[in-house]
Amino acid sequence: MLKGLPTTAHDAPVQPPRRRVWRLLLVVISLAVLQSTTNVFYAQSSTHTSEVPLNAQEILDKCTLLNVKPGPPPDFNLRKQSDRFVAGTPPTLIKNASIWTGRVDGLEVLHGDVLLDGGLIKRVGHIEQDVLETYDDLTTIDAAGAWVSPGIVDLHSHQGVDSSPELRGSDDTNSLKGVAQPWLRALDGLNTHSDAYKLSIAGGLTTVLVLPGSANAIGGQGVVIKLRPTDARTPTGLMLESPWEINGTVYDPSLSLRWRQMKHACGENPSRVYGFTRIDTTWSFRQAYETARKIMVSQDEYCAKATSGEWSGLGAFPDDLQWEALVDVLRGRVKVHNHCYETVDLDDMVRLTNEFKFSIAAFHHAHETYLVPDTLKKAYGHPPAVALFASNARYKREAYRGSEFAPRILAENGLSVVMKSDHPVLDSRFLLYEAQQAHHYGLPANLALASVTSTPATVMGMDHRIGFIKTGYDADIVLWDSHPLALGATPKQVWIDGIAQLEHPYTVTKPSAAQHVPERPNFDKEADAALKYEGLPPLEPVHANSNFIVFRNVSSVYRRQGQSVKEVFRASAEGEEGVVVTADGKVVCAGSMVECPSSLYGNHAEILNLEGGAVAPGLVTYGSPLGLGDITAERSTIDGYALDPLTDEIPKIIGGDSAVAAAVDGLQFGTRDALLAYRAGVTTAIVAPESYGFLSGLSTAFSPGAKHKLEKGAVVQAAAALHIGIHYGAGPSVSTQISALRALLRAEVKRPLGNLVKKVKKGEMTLVVEVESADIMASLIELKKDIEEREGSTIKMTFAGASEAHLLAKEIGEADIGVLLTRPRPFPGTWEQRRIMPGLPLSETSAITALIDNNVTVAIGIEEAWQARNTRWDASWAALESGGEITKAEALALASVHVEKLLGVEVDDIESDLIATQGGDPLEFSSKVVGIISPRRGVVDLL
Ligand SMILES: *[C@@H]1O[C@H](CO)[C@@H](O)[C@H](O)[C@H]1NC(C)=O
Ligand SMILES: *[C@@H]1O[C@H](CO)[C@@H](O)[C@H](O)[C@H]1NC(C)=O
Ligand SMILES: *[C@@H]1O[C@H](CO)[C@@H](O)[C@H](O)[C@H]1NC(C)=O
Ligand SMILES: *[C@@H]1O[C@H](CO)[C@@H](O)[C@H](O)[C@H]1NC(C)=O
Repeated sequence: MLKGLPTTAHDAPVQPPRRRVWRLLLVVISLAVLQSTTNVFYAQSSTHTSEVPLNAQEILDKCTLLNVKPGPPPDFNLRKQSDRFVAGTPPTLIKNASIWTGRVDGLEVLHGDVLLDGGLIKRVGHIEQDVLETYDDLTTIDAAGAWVSPGIVDLHSHQGVDSSPELRGSDDTNSLKGVAQPWLRALDGLNTHSDAYKLSIAGGLTTVLVLPGSANAIGGQGVVIKLRPTDARTPTGLMLESPWEINGTVYDPSLSLRWRQMKHACGENPSRVYGFTRIDTTWSFRQAYETARKIMVSQDEYCAKATSGEWSGLGAFPDDLQWEALVDVLRGRVKVHNHCYETVDLDDMVRLTNEFKFSIAAFHHAHETYLVPDTLKKAYGHPPAVALFASNARYKREAYRGSEFAPRILAENGLSVVMKSDHPVLDSRFLLYEAQQAHHYGLPANLALASVTSTPATVMGMDHRIGFIKTGYDADIVLWDSHPLALGATPKQVWIDGIAQLEHPYTVTKPSAAQHVPERPNFDKEADAALKYEGLPPLEPVHANSNFIVFRNVSSVYRRQGQSVKEVFRASAEGEEGVVVTADGKVVCAGSMVECPSSLYGNHAEILNLEGGAVAPGLVTYGSPLGLGDITAERSTIDGYALDPLTDEIPKIIGGDSAVAAAVDGLQFGTRDALLAYRAGVTTAIVAPESYGFLSGLSTAFSPGAKHKLEKGAVVQAAAALHIGIHYGAGPSVSTQISALRALLRAEVKRPLGNLVKKVKKGEMTLVVEVESADIMASLIELKKDIEEREGSTIKMTFAGASEAHLLAKEIGEADIGVLLTRPRPFPGTWEQRRIMPGLPLSETSAITALIDNNVTVAIGIEEAWQARNTRWDASWAALESGGEITKAEALALASVHVEKLLGVEVDDIESDLIATQGGDPLEFSSKVVGIISPRRGVVDLL
């Protein structure tokens, strides 16, 4: 009776032979019942007789399943309704859209309609009237030619396990109970109440892979979820396809196996946590895989015997609940996601895959993969995909050689590129921005869009239902306000399972140029240099040789005028050319060819064609430790932290409690983040001493392009502003911190702090308060008023950080306090930052416009040093999001003169740096910074 089942465990059919198995099982059970007194019965076969256990069929089922590959049932895409369909969801027609389908390698664009019904995409393209007439309750959206794409898919997120705002009770990212724990599941820690779900949906995200953290070599299993809230309100309800048994550990053979996902991590993170080195971590991988391999071999041997009826002495089926998931990796049923950065680690892992014969779905972070594509191709089974950040690098040794050209180089080598968020490391709401940057630096448009849709869907084994706009796929669709690769692209609507997610989307009209794939500069030379110098190409600017540098074919010229930026020239007529003539680093003429004739510079000038570019004020950065360190995670490369009089015993030698650290004393020049910022048009950086506590010290302004402090013009202003921070959870209570500030401002304080405080009280020095909470800001507004009344002066005060400032926009405006938003696209990272003004499409105004509308001087900044190079995109985004309320000149001011004003840096309009951009103005993706005009240093740097 056992004949007819597969005879070995190795040639099982792809799908479990479920009906037949169950029927046979019933036969076995009824026979067993007949022989009721014993749990062993004797089966006759034509060749031999053996002891067959009562649960023989169950074991044989298990054996059959061992070699079944995961995936949907073969008829999956014939389904009429999604398993996630919510009854009552109206069918929806998106009419007249430009549809990026993800098909044909991401090259297919259809102009037409998309019909959603039953939680599925029913039709794409031209849809006949008689089809539409079968619906009487169709919701119709006229896209008017706008772009639609599949929902954005994030291959690497910690949504829910690292929830927002961050609380002690909500970090369920890692277990610290062991270095290799394949048995853990992110699903078991998934918080359904994170504020980030809704925000990410507002950025077009529909599906994410939630992974455990990287504290362990094997951190456990990930879970693929859709972000929309469900009626069940549970983590289980969010799952896209459950790869786990619902009621036990034995998979129901009547269901298709689904892909599992597992986190691995090599290199620094597991090492740091376990006091390991790389050689320990790699051994822990080998040990774990050897354990799994032994179990797999014993199962296979067991099943070989069982299926040929040799039951005698066979005992129980060999299995181990802790290791079954890793055994499944060896059986090719798990997508392995490997946090792995450096060449040494990548090489180790590729050897491991060949030693134990398993595949890696993707290397994540993977900052050095572009240096070793051939190694990746040697991985067992298939080359891993590579999941990257676009410009977030250099934060630790492993990331030091990270390159913005990695996506392009990997694609040129035929490897699959994914852009990922590592949310909340990057806010996944803006995952598409990573693809936009990758495109800017050379990843082809089709692959850039695929890198956040179809490619991650394919890598996680879900490309049978998400990541594409295809008939029969899940109805996860985004309607965009511009081409998705245009900077600032924002959803006008997001559908998940056919359900519109934005209740009242706010939109603005984008410039018509934004409806096309953005142009981009040529970075061939830079990409070659990244490879040639193994990720560390020389970045130092070169001073121009000639005294006269002339920029021709200039479309617009912006100059600073006091506290603002004005467009002083614009080439109006077709073919009109602007000219900017510089001599010894100073602009001597800017205007038309007639206004600035060549007689001004003769024929000894070096002439640069800006191809319709611009000359504009250099940008200014504040908010990160740029200039006070190289590699954030390496103590030997950073300035370190100021001692704090509220919490530390300050040594007498530095003056006890009245000591003040001055950032100018700790400046480091030539750091890669500073040079990259300079090459991206940031000509002044302002930095305050790093502090964990109340008193930070004196900030300084410097040129990120200078070689050292003693070079002419390297230090723009040695002492800028006095900085303090007031935060919840910082140690002493907030009221203690405020009373410390009050005491400082009311009592006599000894020098040197006393001197600075005196200047603050007289309004001669700006007091910058790092503050996020509106409640703390309210107390500070009162305190300011109180001191001003006592002193009869006006205090210059700036709130920096200031996530919740919009709640007090009017009061802040009345108190004449400036606001420097270090997170111009806000995120509720901590409790005191939680009441954000989210911006489009969730709110009509952004925090920036809300404050501007109340006459507040607003500037934008950053939090981490790598972000400095993206300053021009931040400014541009603010303007785009305002729908024209913020002009280009005002956007430039947000990231230049306003930063200086709010940080107490006084710069002469004529002496301040300018930048020259080719192929567009500094706010456009099409442009590249090619020159820096520095009157104060008397040079023009050509980049
Ligand atoms: C689609 O929208 C574009 C842009 O608004 C418009 O020019 C065109 O006429 C529309 N086509 C149809 C078929 O409605
Ligand atoms: C799991 O158990 C529940 C309740 O006993 C039952 O309704 C359901 O069918 C079971 N599911 C599976 C997959 O066996
Ligand atoms: C100026 O730049 C535009 C835009 O790149 C280009 O089309 C044009 O040919 C350039 N003109 C000259 C004179 O180089
Ligand atoms: C902002 O300033 C302008 C000009 O001084 C004034 O007319 C306006 O009322 C102010 N707005 C607010 C909200 O204070």
